[in-house]
Amino acid sequence: MVKKRACVFISGSGTNLRSIIKNSREYNFPVNIKLVISNQKHADGINFAKKFSIPHIILNYNRTKFEKIATKLLLEKKINLLCLAGFMKVLSKKFIRNFKGNIINIHPSLLPKYKGLNTFNRVLSDGEKNTGCTVHFVEEKLDSGKIIVKKRVSINKDDSPEKLKKKVQIEEYKAYSIAIRKIYSKN
Ligand code: GAR
Repeated sequence: MVKKRACVFISGSGTNLRSIIKNSREYNFPVNIKLVISNQKHADGINFAKKFSIPHIILNYNRTKFEKIATKLLLEKKINLLCLAGFMKVLSKKFIRNFKGNIINIHPSLLPKYKGLNTFNRVLSDGEKNTGCTVHFVEEKLDSGKIIVKKRVSINKDDSPEKLKKKVQIEEYKAYSIAIRKIYSKN
């Protein structure tokens, strides 16, 4: 199997990155990670790239410079799929248009509900009974592209935002790998 070439953009702890790396080591997983880019100097996630000897770079610049360098690297490394995994910078319309159809993101809610930030606090204060995560294609409008996979978790009365985040993240790790497999499965 000829694997596609993926890049992962991160900003923080990188636990989704770790999960994608682990999955990518299976012989029948459709992608290998060829590059990790962090826009934050101290993103812990970069350590997973180091640990697994994956080329990585920190681009702690304004959006224009970040995107200029990132675009060059994505083209040089012939990247087929760009995975946003806890990447907290909003990409420009131009950048998204350049790689359209090849950028996916994981969002901590059941889209189209709760786009944007602080999803766990909002879900709890609205008294929702369920929440979850969504992997979707990235379109120019924030958190709005075609949905690939959703995973649901139920909310307990004593769930705090932190507890809920942990529960949702367990589902995120499964959702991301299911989504990547789905993209490359034959129709
Ligand atoms: C994940 O829970 C992801 O859903 C969220 O950031 C977390 C990153 O965790 N993404 C967003 O909020 C994007 N709007 P990680 O760095 O440990 O993978």
